[in-house]
Amino acid sequence: MKNTVFELGASRRSVRKYTDEHIPDEVLDEIMKAALTAPCSFGHRPVEFVVVRDQEMIRKVASCKRRGGTQIVGADTVIVVMVNLERGEFWIEDGAIASAYILLAAEEYGLGTCWVHIRNREGKEKTADEEIRELLGVPEGYAVLNLIALGGKGEQKPGYTEADYDFGKIHWEHY
Ligand SMILES: Cc1cc2nc3c(=O)[nH]c(=O)nc-3n(C[C@H](O)[C@H](O)[C@H](O)COP(=O)(O)O)c2cc1C
Repeated sequence: MKNTVFELGASRRSVRKYTDEHIPDEVLDEIMKAALTAPCSFGHRPVEFVVVRDQEMIRKVASCKRRGGTQIVGADTVIVVMVNLERGEFWIEDGAIASAYILLAAEEYGLGTCWVHIRNREGKEKTADEEIRELLGVPEGYAVLNLIALGGKGEQKPGYTEADYDFGKIHWEHY
């Protein structure tokens, strides 16, 4: 361990196939520490998580997204990222940055991850957000931004290298 944020950022890729590696609870605790220390608007800490490890429940969560949800099936763990809207004027940003911390922290442990989007996505009958909240018993006043699937990397993708850095996107002093 002790990879720098530069190394983690370069090696992290979205992984959509998983091995049957079991992630120890202690590792998940460490990963969630990173999520809990992510910056947040006004210091309100509006982001909460449901960590789903039961495979049957993961299948049910997957089916709440009409298209593109099934890829989480086979992941050891799925983290549901949701935000308390009463405390979250910037709820999307708050959820997104906490998610980014999870992605990088999981990479530190050599785990594969993928962000699976939920906000503004259709479910079977309602929105994917509503169906997931109902399934997991999330109280009123929360919105689900995304899921993060975690597991052993079942596909190997090359990390980013110097050739991938598009410095043309960086504008100095003016566009
Ligand atoms: C806001 C956001 C939404 C995303 N939604 C999905 C998704 O629903 N399903 C999926 O497989 N990947 C999703 N991704 C992952 C992206 O497809 C992926 O990060 C991008 O193609 C770059 O590839 P990389 O993660 O390997 O660097 C999402 C990523 C972000 C940041």
